[in-house]
Amino acid sequence: MATRRDFIKIIGGGTIIAAGAAIGLVAYPPGVPDAAAAWRNPGADETDIRRKALSYAILAPNPHNMQPWLVDLSQPDVVTLSLDTSRLLPATDPYGRQIILGCGAFLELMVLAANVFGANVDIALWPEGTPEPMLDSRPFARVTFNTAVPRNDPLFDHILNRRTNREIYDMSRVPSQDDLDQVIRASSISDGLHGGYENRPEAVAALRDIVWRGWELEMRTPAALAESVNVMRIGDRAIAAHRDGLTLGGPLMNLMGATGLVSREALLDPASSANAQGAAMWKEKADTSPAFVWISSDDNSRVTQIEAGRCYARMNLAATAQGLSMHPWSMALQEYPEMADLYAEQQRYFGKTKDAPVQMLARIGYAPPIPPAPRRGLDAQLKV
Ligand SMILES: Cc1cc2nc3c(=O)[nH]c(=O)nc-3n(C[C@H](O)[C@H](O)[C@H](O)COP(=O)(O)O)c2cc1C
Repeated sequence: MATRRDFIKIIGGGTIIAAGAAIGLVAYPPGVPDAAAAWRNPGADETDIRRKALSYAILAPNPHNMQPWLVDLSQPDVVTLSLDTSRLLPATDPYGRQIILGCGAFLELMVLAANVFGANVDIALWPEGTPEPMLDSRPFARVTFNTAVPRNDPLFDHILNRRTNREIYDMSRVPSQDDLDQVIRASSISDGLHGGYENRPEAVAALRDIVWRGWELEMRTPAALAESVNVMRIGDRAIAAHRDGLTLGGPLMNLMGATGLVSREALLDPASSANAQGAAMWKEKADTSPAFVWISSDDNSRVTQIEAGRCYARMNLAATAQGLSMHPWSMALQEYPEMADLYAEQQRYFGKTKDAPVQMLARIGYAPPIPPAPRRGLDAQLKV
């Protein structure tokens, strides 16, 4: 018989997902649309190559799955990309660094797809200047499409299988140096960015300890916890209605949400039993990190943040190509005041600083497959 533990898994900052029929397994109650439909045959019906490429770009990894991208297609052959400033994460990502990494990931997927469908692209980053220190609605990229012979980067083939996989990783299979070297090589596209990895047991144990303390601190920081809980979609109907954020899906969660057993109030209380269970499960995830990968940079400019996001997308795709799963663990990379000491400790561990930081840190290893995360679809992101 399945136990409660078989069904409930905790994802994100204390969020719960019923894994028995996790999101995207099309186990929605009758009449509830599939929130992950954007992953099936993206762009198949599109005739405009820009829309075709964008149908892949919207599948990019991005913080809390906020999908904050706004697309302007009003100029022929040009895609202008900016941010929907109502979709930022000011408590945990006050300067928007992580949001911009997600923009870089979007751009990289769009470029991979554009090349495959027969376009070269010219990219102007921040064509109207960079937003400092806070983000605003200025474009982060203006991309011109020029017809070209189709060109396939092998990473394109893995876009539809790429996931952020938060499962328990197999500790008996540590990714080899060769595999990790290959992941780093495939992601290296820019000067000034450096990929690194660690799979030696003692060093990995030290990293597990830091990432875990980051998780605990976020849980104890009310504004940070509230930011995650606010974008939590409890039950399949809410997931299908929003198609973004952190998802608590599947039959058991539908029931627990409907009966009030899981509620925003409980999730906002760090001492609630839901969050106590969550902590135990997240600790197990941290403890089953057989290796870590990271991306660091020589500066922390807005251009570099975009490039780091492109690099992360490639890293995640290259890992997918190798049968490896990845899961970013960003808490101690976040720049809010309560995290400052741990942020500095983690950067010191890597020999880095806030002006030339580690931009991304993720566990990497072998894990059971999972379904795709929801997406809102391209039309929801078009600027009218
Ligand atoms: C900059 C950045 C930071 C992220 N940090 C975390 C994190 O700390 N924990 C986590 O579980 N996922 C993290 N993610 C993964 C996103 O939550 C994930 O991409 C999003 O939910 C969509 O899911 P998908 O990648 O499976 O499509 C991060 C992604 C990006 C781009």
